[in-house]
Amino acid sequence: MPTFVMRMNHMQPKSILLILNTLSELEEHLNSLTNERFFVLCDSNTWRECFPRIASGFSNRQCHIHIIPPGEIHKQADTLWDILRNMALEGLQKSDLVVNLGGGTISDIGGLASALYQRGLPYINLPTTLLAMADAAHGGKTAIDFMGIKNLVGTFWFPQQTIIFPEFLRTLPQRELKAGYVEVLKQALLAGKRAWAQASTIGPEQITQNPQIICRAAELKMKIVKQDPTDRGIRQILNLGHTLGHAIEAWSLTHPLGPMLHGEAVALGMMAELRLSALYAGLDEDFAQQASRVFSRFIHSPFPTISDIDQIQNFMRYDKKNRNASIRFSLLAKPGKAYIGVSIAEKKIRNVLEEILSGIHNP
Ligand SMILES: NC(=O)c1ccc[n+]([C@@H]2O[C@H](COP(=O)([O-])OP(=O)(O)OC[C@H]3O[C@@H](n4cnc5c(N)ncnc54)[C@H](O)[C@@H]3O)[C@@H](O)[C@H]2O)c1
Repeated sequence: MPTFVMRMNHMQPKSILLILNTLSELEEHLNSLTNERFFVLCDSNTWRECFPRIASGFSNRQCHIHIIPPGEIHKQADTLWDILRNMALEGLQKSDLVVNLGGGTISDIGGLASALYQRGLPYINLPTTLLAMADAAHGGKTAIDFMGIKNLVGTFWFPQQTIIFPEFLRTLPQRELKAGYVEVLKQALLAGKRAWAQASTIGPEQITQNPQIICRAAELKMKIVKQDPTDRGIRQILNLGHTLGHAIEAWSLTHPLGPMLHGEAVALGMMAELRLSALYAGLDEDFAQQASRVFSRFIHSPFPTISDIDQIQNFMRYDKKNRNASIRFSLLAKPGKAYIGVSIAEKKIRNVLEEILSGIHNP
């Protein structure tokens, strides 16, 4: 597959997207970077599974490795301060480069630490999950969760480069791979009928044999981000499924059975928002049901019950798209066409959530 290159810089979408297929290409590329030192941020899993595979790419430079515990639960202020403290102890400077080696948790928190330290260090993303390759590692949104609210504290700070190396997916646990595929499916719905038909037929099991699907999702996101880097307008279509998805994910964070993965919560959010799209955005009813069935294959317990809806609606009120106390959605009109800023009354949202949750609990 040809290497795809798109340019951006930190405050504006001019970063480079590289798709590299062999280890030697990746090593060669890392060795060609001219920064004096690397600060590599990993979690304990990507340190064990991914770093050793590419260590030789860092061999000709001073390299400090900072390892954080894995998972969303650590995308929070204490971990951020710890990273910043380490950057300061290492005396990191603007001539150095932060390398985020991991999934969306690492690119979100590592991107935010890069934005804050000395008012901005350069960084690159080396995504190791499907979700990050297709979505999270692109577009410059950086954040931590705060006071139990997803991504409440963050900023826009664009990576210098994002390098997709699909081989990393070989060690990714199946549940993570499946959850990541939800963002691939969402992106395909936004791209149009053909992309949706292909992505909904292939599935996560065959993704390493079909890396062009990851590239298409990443390219679509970059194209939209380029038009609206700071999420004031068109970029909000990427939030399809996420108004409810984020609220459901936040609800699950403190659940005794353990939290849902981001993609699992978004799958449930997609089911509800496809129904809202059929009711309020003109999406064909049969298509909405067919697409919803595809997303239902990606949901995973703990499932909220009707008695959790109040709490979910509470989390929804913190959504960044809201204006003047109304809840706003990005909804699908048809594959390839979405509306942004669709305001829907809380009672109507509750009705749809009740319908979807009853369907899950009484299939
Ligand atoms: N900034 C954005 O635009 C954006 C978009 C979507 C999602 N996100 C964020 O991304 C986060 C979720 O990202 P994620 O799903 O990548 O989760 P993650 O980064 O938490 O990784 C999931 C798990 O997989 C492990 N892992 C990662 N790569 C591995 C590999 N190759 N082999 C073995 N184990 C591996 C990790 O250690 C972790 O345990 C959420 O916080 C979400 O809010 C951000």
